[in-house]
Amino acid sequence: MRGNTSIILRTMLLVSVAITLSMMALLFLVERSLKNHFMELDEDIVNNKASIIVSLSKQKDALSKIMSWDAANSDEGFYIKVLDDERLVYKSNRSRLSPGNNSSKFISISETEPPSSHNYIVKTIHVDIDKQRYSVMIYLDASVHSHFLADFRVQLLTIFCGAWLIIILSTYLGIKKGHKPIYSLSKHMSTIQAEKLEATLAIDKYPGELRELIESFNGMLTKLNGSFIKLSDFSNDVAHELRTPLTNIIMQAQVGLSQERSIPEYQELMYSILEELEQLAKMVGDMLWLARTDNGLILADKEPLSLASELSSLLDFFTYLAEEKALTFELINNEDHVMADKIMFRRAISNVISNAIRYSDHGSPIGISLSRDPSHGTLVSVTNRCTGISGEPISRMFDRLYRGDISRSGSSDGVGLGLSIVKSIIEVHGGKVWNEVDGDHITFHLLFPVR
Ligand SMILES: Nc1ncnc2c1ncn2[C@@H]1O[C@H](COP(=O)(O)OP(=O)(O)OP(=O)(O)O)[C@@H](O)[C@H]1O
Ligand SMILES: [Mg+2]
Repeated sequence: MRGNTSIILRTMLLVSVAITLSMMALLFLVERSLKNHFMELDEDIVNNKASIIVSLSKQKDALSKIMSWDAANSDEGFYIKVLDDERLVYKSNRSRLSPGNNSSKFISISETEPPSSHNYIVKTIHVDIDKQRYSVMIYLDASVHSHFLADFRVQLLTIFCGAWLIIILSTYLGIKKGHKPIYSLSKHMSTIQAEKLEATLAIDKYPGELRELIESFNGMLTKLNGSFIKLSDFSNDVAHELRTPLTNIIMQAQVGLSQERSIPEYQELMYSILEELEQLAKMVGDMLWLARTDNGLILADKEPLSLASELSSLLDFFTYLAEEKALTFELINNEDHVMADKIMFRRAISNVISNAIRYSDHGSPIGISLSRDPSHGTLVSVTNRCTGISGEPISRMFDRLYRGDISRSGSSDGVGLGLSIVKSIIEVHGGKVWNEVDGDHITFHLLFPVR
């Protein structure tokens, strides 16, 4: 049966085949046991008659005693023939029993074939009367039983057909009724729209069998709703983030064009526009990178990297920036290797270190520690002091376009994508990233897995 065949049709076919087979088996068994029972009954009667004839044959004047016994029992549905060397000596006179007609069938007593209409069970016995050997043939009419069996079969078949119809009909109605909650569920599901993803289905309205499905569906809705909200927030944020630099660029261009200016003034204006454009280009580039990692288009080309040399070249690069804020780097245990994509690794660490520089308190130290756990991998942790950080929702820092405390971020030129990129990079490597706050100190942990 094909996979897309309707469930009702499949179940009905299965049930009807099962019922038909069981009923046929039942019919066969009942009929066979009844037939056997009647055969045994008829055999007993014939044997009984035979033993009477044998006992009469031993008496004086046996032949006439047999004849008068036969005449006295003329209503019992049997008749006899007495033969002497194939010559008929005596034959019962019964008008009701006519074994001579065409439809009659004689069955020997040893035969197991069931009697049909006008069947006669025949038993031949040999008796010696007055030193003369006679054959006595006893015929018993078994058609009463075969007629009873035929009627019984018709009745049984009628009952079975009725029962078959009732079972099939009730199965059909049962399945139809059983499917009702599924139809109502699908109706309910079809009303769900992107804007109403928070409207989950009420579990208690549906039968137990569907609850697991509804729970999974509700779970999926909740996840979709979360992603949908995130996505629409993200597009709102993107529009908002793009609007500010674009407005700045337009305003600066308008101011520049409003009157004639000297070359140095135009140059300054161009620098200022270039700055905004660079910010825009960075944001677009970052978003593109994130979109590509989301779609699995960026893969890590891992190689063993020496943490000592990677970190020292990165810290050299940031020395000038750190000095501006009188920050110092404290490196703990840098003798290790990490399996990572060189460019991605540098990008992730640079983002975290540049954040630490940007958001650190003036004149505070920045701690960079490396630890190795043979079962988990290499952990790079960057800690900096940032007064007032304890009240911030630090887990949101990894959200796209999230920027923390306005007063702190307002002064920075970040767009809030740095840590999202760090998270994507670590995830592309199969690792984990998280942050934690201890008083005024915040630490970002980057775990690169063993493999
Ligand atoms: N080391 C840190 N100390 C304190 N706050 C931090 C630190 N790193 C990140 N944050 C907070 O998390 C926010 C998000 O950081 P993220 O690096 O994603 O964006 P950003 O630095 O604002 O911009 P950019 O895209 O240029 O990196 C920051 O705006 C800041 O408020
Ligand atoms: Mg940043």
